[in-house]
Amino acid sequence: MTEIILNTQTGKSNIHCGEGAFKEYARKLKGVKNFVVTDTNVFALYKDVIFSAFSGDAGIKILPAGERSKTYGNLISIIGEMARAGITRDCTVIAFGGGVIGDIAGLAACLYMRGLRLVQIPTTLLAQVDSSVGGKTAVDFKKVKNLIGAFYQPDEVIVDPIFLKTLPPREIRCGLGEIIKYGALDGGIYKKLSAAEDIFNLNFLGDITADCIRHKVGVVEKDERETTGLRKTLNLGHTTGHAFELYYKRKSHGEFVLIGMYYELFIAEKKGLVSGEYPSGLKKLIKSVVNVPPYKDIGEAAKLAKLDKKNSTDGKITLIAPVSEGECAEIRLGFEEYLSYLSDCAKSLEK
Ligand SMILES: NC(=O)c1ccc[n+]([C@@H]2O[C@H](COP(=O)([O-])OP(=O)(O)OC[C@H]3O[C@@H](n4cnc5c(N)ncnc54)[C@H](O)[C@@H]3O)[C@@H](O)[C@H]2O)c1
Ligand SMILES: [Zn+2]
Repeated sequence: MTEIILNTQTGKSNIHCGEGAFKEYARKLKGVKNFVVTDTNVFALYKDVIFSAFSGDAGIKILPAGERSKTYGNLISIIGEMARAGITRDCTVIAFGGGVIGDIAGLAACLYMRGLRLVQIPTTLLAQVDSSVGGKTAVDFKKVKNLIGAFYQPDEVIVDPIFLKTLPPREIRCGLGEIIKYGALDGGIYKKLSAAEDIFNLNFLGDITADCIRHKVGVVEKDERETTGLRKTLNLGHTTGHAFELYYKRKSHGEFVLIGMYYELFIAEKKGLVSGEYPSGLKKLIKSVVNVPPYKDIGEAAKLAKLDKKNSTDGKITLIAPVSEGECAEIRLGFEEYLSYLSDCAKSLEK
């Protein structure tokens, strides 16, 4: 098991990572007054585990599975149930599920009585490598993702690969999208990914998760609130990925991150920022997880990149693109230039 500590000005998270982490740490939650938030899928699969491990003695809120549950209405209903159950400040909130549950339960824990103890138990690969660590909590509002949120560090994060066994392949691909993103940011992770016989193997994923968390912890400790620009690097591939996700839909977030990374790597190549073997190695990794389509209607999709929060005030589209092993670069482009690169990349994929 790997123990990782995240220390920031606002809090400290103890992250317990690896096989057996759940068994070891969930039993410590027995006897602690706790309120559990989970979703219908996770509850159906892990009901017995929840009740035998930490009972949810102070209450349990089960939301319908999926992003559509990450709403202000559900946030208020969690808080309402906590109030009805008479939750006091000595109670712990346990977020047991994927990133949706982690984000909404984290925000409820932050707001209720100005903050309760929070334990994140991420059950998707994406939540394990990304969303459960770093203290970002949020709900979507008026169709804007994560419009209402706060930074609130969990006290404990329990990351156990045991939960990956029940994950559908699409959710594994989604997590791999973020893992390959870490690979583009961290030379050590890139080497492990490139050398792996099978990146879908659950033992491999269990191991690489700790590396990804370590990378994220290093970034968050230096730039918790995204003020110096460092935390922005965790958005590598996301400008184009998000725009495509909004426009084309149907694939998972992580798959779009990979597709965005592919298109942005193409731009970095055309701008002469990338050379040698690296781009073909990274493209091979991306294509081992997702088919990169030669998108049509790319002009309409590209317009959505104008909404990206990284963009500069002069309206330029801002990308964090991979350039060499463990290195990325910020690229700023006018919209027409950005669109022309995306079209060229789509054309190159038709061949
Ligand atoms: N806070 C952050 O820093 C941060 C970072 C990245 C993403 N996010 C947020 O995370 C969310 C996406 O998270 P996600 O991809 O985990 O989605 P999710 O929580 O919707 O989970 C995906 C699906 O997997 C199911 N599931 C969860 N665990 C399972 C298991 N062990 N076995 C079988 N099925 C299981 C869920 O019921 C759901 O249907 C988005 O809302 C995104 O904004 C937050
Ligand atoms: Zn992401």
